[in-house]
Amino acid sequence: MSNKKDTVFSRQLPAIQGFEFNAQVADVFENMIHRSVPGYDLLLNMIAVLSQKYALPGTRCYDLGCSLGASTLQIRRNVPSDCVVVGVDSSAAMVTRCRQNMMRDHSQANVEILEQDLLQTEITNASVVVMNFTLQFVADTERQQTLCRIAEGLVPGGILILAEKVKLEDTAVNQRMIELHQDFKKLKGYSDLEIAQKRASLEDVLVPNTITEHRQRMFSAGFGTVELFVRCLNFVAFLAIKS
Ligand SMILES: C[S@@+](CC[C@H](N)C(=O)[O-])C[C@H]1O[C@@H](n2cnc3c(N)ncnc32)[C@H](O)[C@@H]1O
Repeated sequence: MSNKKDTVFSRQLPAIQGFEFNAQVADVFENMIHRSVPGYDLLLNMIAVLSQKYALPGTRCYDLGCSLGASTLQIRRNVPSDCVVVGVDSSAAMVTRCRQNMMRDHSQANVEILEQDLLQTEITNASVVVMNFTLQFVADTERQQTLCRIAEGLVPGGILILAEKVKLEDTAVNQRMIELHQDFKKLKGYSDLEIAQKRASLEDVLVPNTITEHRQRMFSAGFGTVELFVRCLNFVAFLAIKS
């Protein structure tokens, strides 16, 4: 993957458009996500660990909203060789680059990268499903149904790894976490202008839920266990296990 520097919001833009996963973003996405999401590398490591533990021979493993395939690769490298790994993304720019990244990887498990809205993805015989910062971009009205379809498509004992930016219920704490996240981005070299313009662009596009909402939705979907296993500021990851 390329580590070309993200400068998408570095110049004053005449108007702020809603954020899109277009070619300009796809070209710098690896750099963008590393500099924007605290704990991203830890999550990739945990996706590897959890795939090793929970992926079952002869099943399918899904990475919904796979972008360039960083999580897909962690899954593919850590599952039995007769698993089929399915990466799904609705952005053509991401899918093109993801397929190239998969071709450079020589793990044994078969991989398919689908250009598709994940709302249309058929999930069957799955032992591992990953949504690494994707559900937050799905319309809020579609999220419960999406979680239900994932739970239905999982085999008993199968898992969902759900990582999301969240809104904290205490507004003062939420504000503190947002400010600390901005400090994190400054530490990673983003300017105040870049931070402000990206934030405006993501408004109404990335719509966070609370931890309680996520938990309730996963239990309603039929998961027997829901554990928050990683948190840094307002970024969290849950491990949900189907009974
Ligand atoms: C923050 S990125 C995910 C990062 C990636 N999972 C990783 O681990 O590096 C969100 C991705 O979800 C994709 N996406 C958003 N809504 C989608 C949808 N309805 N169906 C499929 N992909 C979607 C975007 O195109 C984008 O590539």
